[in-house]
Amino acid sequence: MQILENFSLKYHNTFGIDAKAKFFVEINSVEDLKSILQKKEYPNKLILGGGSNLLIIEDIDALVIYINIKGIQVLSKTDDTVLIKVMAGENWHEMVLWTLERDFGGLENMSLIPGKTGTAPVQNIGAYGVELKDCFVACEAMEINTQAIRAFSKTDCDFGYRQSYFKNEGKDKFAIISVTFELTVKNHIISSSYGAIEEELLKKGIQDPSIKDISNAVVAIRNSKLPNPKELGNSGSFFKNPMLTKEDFEIFTNKNPEAPFYKISDDEYKIPAGWLIEQCGYKGKRFGDAGVHTKQALVLVNYGNATGKEILELADNIMKEVKLKFNINITPEVNLIR
Ligand code: FAD
Ligand code: EPU
Repeated sequence: MQILENFSLKYHNTFGIDAKAKFFVEINSVEDLKSILQKKEYPNKLILGGGSNLLIIEDIDALVIYINIKGIQVLSKTDDTVLIKVMAGENWHEMVLWTLERDFGGLENMSLIPGKTGTAPVQNIGAYGVELKDCFVACEAMEINTQAIRAFSKTDCDFGYRQSYFKNEGKDKFAIISVTFELTVKNHIISSSYGAIEEELLKKGIQDPSIKDISNAVVAIRNSKLPNPKELGNSGSFFKNPMLTKEDFEIFTNKNPEAPFYKISDDEYKIPAGWLIEQCGYKGKRFGDAGVHTKQALVLVNYGNATGKEILELADNIMKEVKLKFNINITPEVNLIR
């Protein structure tokens, strides 16, 4: 376990922000995690996964603990389902491919999401009609202050849209070390109702898709509109899609009858923030090296040397414009690190 000083995080965050960590350590085992957390000389700590859901605003005056603990284990298998336990440092997409190679179903709609498996419960990742919570059974996490290992059930995690216990009361208190999923081994539940998936399958002439076909379709759709962080720095959707009550939705839709929306329940309507931002004229706009993606207005990008502060300034301006034009508050999905 080597502790590095004044370490550049440029290649540890998908925005490609060149900020420094005062101290940085890569962790490959649960034992090493315990011993590093016990060290009293580093009072401030930040847990880091793949760096694909954060914006680093300034140099980090803390010990950055990069979780790279590997391992995937089949815990049990019946005729219908399999339980797998995945260590936190496994790359999410590679883990999804591992499940597909074995014809285990459930994670295929979430193919190609960047980051580590241990971070997936933090914001209950989701894509194309499926969320982590749909296959999640439990996770284990080490308490930062006491190093006690605690098991969290699905109820304990309190999952919501891009929300969990770990983003609220449990924020910065735990390092997730493993996640257990229940997946199908036969009679897979095929979720292809998300519009773009149907279109993609139709294009390829696939009528009775397998879980691999769904994964391939999702990969193709994502590649067509989301920038590859290796080519253009970004953190996926910068903002969450806002949820309106029925009353607010009716006021909004009367003024904006052409706006797309999703009815979540009788009193919850989700509006695509990408549409709101595009209507404010920001899609494809560039301010120095900070910009709004040309194909997806919800994605802020770093054209090379933008600082975290410049991206944040752009985000603040977008939030103000959306509020002014639509009287809707949009809030960041990415974690702002100061
Ligand atoms: P990091 O960015 O490293 O960390 C995120 C937060 O979690 C930080 O606050 C960090 O301190 C904390 N954290 C990290 N690891 C742990 C741990 N082991 N225990 C406790 N806390 C921890 N997200 C979606 O939901 N759906 C999408 O479709 C999607 N598409 C994306 C597309 C692109 C191109 C990009 C760049 C991002 C996308 N994201 C998406 C966002 C992101 O990939 C996910 O949120 C992912 O789970 C973040 O994982 P990470 O390991 O990179 O987290
Ligand atoms: N839209 C526009 N202009 C744009 C972008 C979007 O008008 O520039 C409108 C269109 O009407 C489009 C709708 O918004 O049909 C929805 O767009 P899209 O399907 O691209 O999805 P999104 O709402 O922008 C969400 C997630 C993504 C996830 C996709 C697919 C959030 C914050 N984002 O994006 O997650 O991959 O759905 O399920 O919920 C992430 O969290 O980082 C992320 C990429």
